Amino acid sequence: MAFPRHRPRRLRSTPAMRRLVAQTSLEPRHLVLPMFVADGITEPRPISSMPGVVQHTRESLRRAAADAVAAGVGGLMLFGVPRDEDKDPDGTAGTDRDGVLNVALRDLAADLGDDTVLMADTCLDEFTDHGHCGVVDERGRVDNDATTRRYVELAVAQADSGAHVVGPSGMMDGQVAAIRDGLDAAGHSDTAVLAYAAKFASGFYGPFREAVASSLEGDRRTYQQEPGNAREAIHEVQLDLDEGADIVMVKPAMAYLDVVRAAADISPVPVAAYQVSGEYSMISAAAANGWIDLRTVALETLTGIRRAGADIVLTYWAVDAAGWLS
Ligand code: PBG
Repeated sequence: MAFPRHRPRRLRSTPAMRRLVAQTSLEPRHLVLPMFVADGITEPRPISSMPGVVQHTRESLRRAAADAVAAGVGGLMLFGVPRDEDKDPDGTAGTDRDGVLNVALRDLAADLGDDTVLMADTCLDEFTDHGHCGVVDERGRVDNDATTRRYVELAVAQADSGAHVVGPSGMMDGQVAAIRDGLDAAGHSDTAVLAYAAKFASGFYGPFREAVASSLEGDRRTYQQEPGNAREAIHEVQLDLDEGADIVMVKPAMAYLDVVRAAADISPVPVAAYQVSGEYSMISAAAANGWIDLRTVALETLTGIRRAGADIVLTYWAVDAAGWLS
């Protein structure tokens, strides 16, 4: 019998050997923690479909953010949840300097300075009473250019409040260029744009809608992409690169790893992937049932997203993973 000359198992023989030859690295600095801050609550409010994730009060956000930074995560992505009575058709609570998100950004900027990378979701859905990511016309359609003008105001408000990075997530055409120009005109040429470049209309956002108490009825299929469209996703990434995006993101992550890879293959700037709420919830639920091991599977998914080409991963496990990895 002819034995194989090359035995890949040789390089798997000891932990030290496996560490030496490990191709993909996963470090806390690669991970960004999405966080929710809600107006009008006095205690952190658990999000039932995302065990372990809460809507923070202003104070609990400050403590949790400091803990995340101490754990070594690469950055924080903030989402604001206004009171229901502050929602309106234009999402003015998002641009209000005293709105929940802008206040929280100022708090964290004051607490943390440049010790972390402070990011903000630049979108209207949390703030509109109809729950769409933009402003709607008289026929109920999301108006691309009117929405984009609101995103510029949002981005400037967030940069004024201390965000290092703004993250337009509404998939309006031309949003990155408009925000770049608006930030520059407002004196924020150092504020980076993390473009949600290829964002799919996904069932995996289900738990997030609870997390931000979304008012949406219907869907986002006139602005988010069809799950099957890979070529269009790369077109979207290329458009955002041409418009000046500093980081391009693919979202969700696990069902779109081919898109992450394709983006990484063409992008001259860092690529991020967002492991979204439903990805977190589904693994958490299986682990809670004892069907899979949470730590093993969570780290495996994060490694897989990195292996696919993501430089940065947004994940609700950012702090847990930082602990597991240390
Ligand atoms: C829009 C936005 C959404 C998410 C991040 N930004 C929701 C949506 O597009 O419906 C989803 C994040 C997640 O599911 O974890 N502001």
